[in-house]
Amino acid sequence: MKERDFAEFNNRYAGQTCYVVGRGSTTYRYEDLRAVTEPVFFINDAVFLDRYVSAESFFMAHDRDPGRWLEMGIKSTPVLPEDGKIVSGRDDPLFANFAGEVVFYKWQRMEGEKLIRLDRNEVAGKRELYRNTGTIHSLLHFVWYCGFKKIRFIGCDGSTCGSTYDPRLPNLSQTRSWGQYESIRRVQDRLCRHFRFEVEYLSSSPSATQNSFRTEKPQIPKIAHFAWFGSEVPQAVLNNVEMFRRYHQDWEIHLWTSLPDELDADLRKIIESVDLLCMHSDVIRPWLLHRYGGLYIDTDIYTLRSMEELRYFDHFAAAGNQPGAIYNGVMGSRPGSAVMANFLRNVRAVHVRNLNPGSRTRFGPGLLREWNDRYPQELNILPAHYFYVLHTQGSVLKFIEMDRRGERPGFDSVRKRITDGVEPFALHMWGIPANQMPDGKGRSSWARMDRKTAVQSRDDRAGVASPDLPRISDGAQSAKIEHFYQHLGERWFVYPSLYKSMVERGASGSTFVEVGSWKGASASFMAVEIANSGKKIDFVCVDTWAGSDEHQHFPEVKSGRLYDIFIQNITPVKDYIKPLRMASVSASAQFPDETVDFVFIDGAHDFENVYADITAWYPKVKCGGVIAGHDYLVPKYGVARAVEQFFGSEFRNVRSSEGCWIYDKTGDAALKTL
Ligand SMILES: C[S@@+](CC[C@H](N)C(=O)[O-])C[C@H]1O[C@@H](n2cnc3c(N)ncnc32)[C@H](O)[C@@H]1O
Repeated sequence: MKERDFAEFNNRYAGQTCYVVGRGSTTYRYEDLRAVTEPVFFINDAVFLDRYVSAESFFMAHDRDPGRWLEMGIKSTPVLPEDGKIVSGRDDPLFANFAGEVVFYKWQRMEGEKLIRLDRNEVAGKRELYRNTGTIHSLLHFVWYCGFKKIRFIGCDGSTCGSTYDPRLPNLSQTRSWGQYESIRRVQDRLCRHFRFEVEYLSSSPSATQNSFRTEKPQIPKIAHFAWFGSEVPQAVLNNVEMFRRYHQDWEIHLWTSLPDELDADLRKIIESVDLLCMHSDVIRPWLLHRYGGLYIDTDIYTLRSMEELRYFDHFAAAGNQPGAIYNGVMGSRPGSAVMANFLRNVRAVHVRNLNPGSRTRFGPGLLREWNDRYPQELNILPAHYFYVLHTQGSVLKFIEMDRRGERPGFDSVRKRITDGVEPFALHMWGIPANQMPDGKGRSSWARMDRKTAVQSRDDRAGVASPDLPRISDGAQSAKIEHFYQHLGERWFVYPSLYKSMVERGASGSTFVEVGSWKGASASFMAVEIANSGKKIDFVCVDTWAGSDEHQHFPEVKSGRLYDIFIQNITPVKDYIKPLRMASVSASAQFPDETVDFVFIDGAHDFENVYADITAWYPKVKCGGVIAGHDYLVPKYGVARAVEQFFGSEFRNVRSSEGCWIYDKTGDAALKTL
């Protein structure tokens, strides 16, 4: 690492234009960055895009984790706070393999407002940049200090519509978008005014009403489904259904009070296995929408106006009032949509694999959230204020009371939550209030089926414990083993979440293969997870233990001791690992096709070898299994090219996390399961 002097940037680009690229959602074609000749500033994970840029580029980050990009060998010049979280100074180990130049500034002194009133020479003297909530705020101060006059923003418009980062960018920092972007944008605007920048926002994110799921013609039929299970339908529910009818006179309206006869047997079984009524309706709604299409509306939704315009979507759910949440209180779909089919597959997968067993929302909002986190481009998520603009039952009831008296109260006090100018369609009442229930007890989301019905349904299940319900945690659990991979050899193992999630989702009887185990760091992490899960997972580690080309200078490779070191290192978990000392492609021949649940490829990293590894191992993976590999994002390796070439049109279904590429093999590309 070489250091560039901060003072060198004082007015260096006087009067010029630059690009600032963040990771917010945008319709910008990133390939077009190739034609950009002006300097480009990347914020956090957007630096992934520096591979497109041939102009001078910079990288700014405030969080520790984007430091991983340094290890990946980015070509942008990092501009980093030497006293921030991202690096602990010039000697930070993150710079050990970083061959580029770095600009350091100070950040911790909290002189923000005073700082932006200093002139450039004074800022140069202090070597200090403005600090506020977003990385972009320090960046704007630096951009001004550099003398730029005009900024073209990409992915920085601070929109919360869609509520996630741009799904095309790998989220190596593993941060979540918490919906704070509106407030970040306000400070951003203030700074742009203060520094008198000319600004241009390129390809802002689409608003809900013009988003890519919106169709020319109505897709969703005029059918509304409500469901009330477990007791006599309260008047309050009937009132809500009537309220909906008032605005939808020509719609077909169904109030389901028992499970539809045609409901698939396996879904019926899932419903019978839980006694929380909300979970019944969570399972039933994607089925109704897939079978008949229409809107599914919770019975505690008070309709405010016609939902006709929502028919112009292929499907939708809406963001919840909690950051990152997606609620299913009002959902819509055309009949037979791929998304609802996928939803049902995910419901089945959650049940069969016993995923998130403690979560009461695992078939509903929990599943939607997890799904959206993994495949952010698949679900059409409308803004939260469409149905959840008021956040407490008290405020909703007050609103309804005034509404009934004909005093349309309006939403002035929550106007800032209405991000796209579209007025709310309905209000979620957060349960049926006690005084509106016949028994005076109210009905919370967590109401259970009454005991008699629950016992009855359990009795019905007795003796038919289906073979497709794996007993996940078979066997007595002994004390948990602590991880020790951190102490084994080089620090190449940086994908613990992936390995952990594979064990969580795998069932007893699964087979996992790791290609490339070196000194056993990744293998021992996996083995500890397997041991602690109590599942019987066969874990095969394939390696020649001769090292790849780039390892030939390592003394342990030269001396031929690598295998012994591996065996010694894995001693505490040796019963959970089957070493297979062979070349990857030959080893694959020992596995019949479609017998492996998870293959992880971390052998040689050149294009030919990675391509050969994927070609050899892909057929071995079961449908429903996963194939993945490491070093996806390292520009000098051929991994990305091999993955792109092998998967061809399926490449769009390759996701990326923790520097890995990951592909869920479904047998049907359109219908992935979690
Ligand atoms: C990067 S290291 C694996 C690191 C390991 N996954 C970890 O994180 O601790 C790559 C390993 O792949 C092995 N390898 C390279 N090419 C191989 C091949 N064709 N067949 C089997 N093993 C190979 C090398 O011997 C080396 O041990």
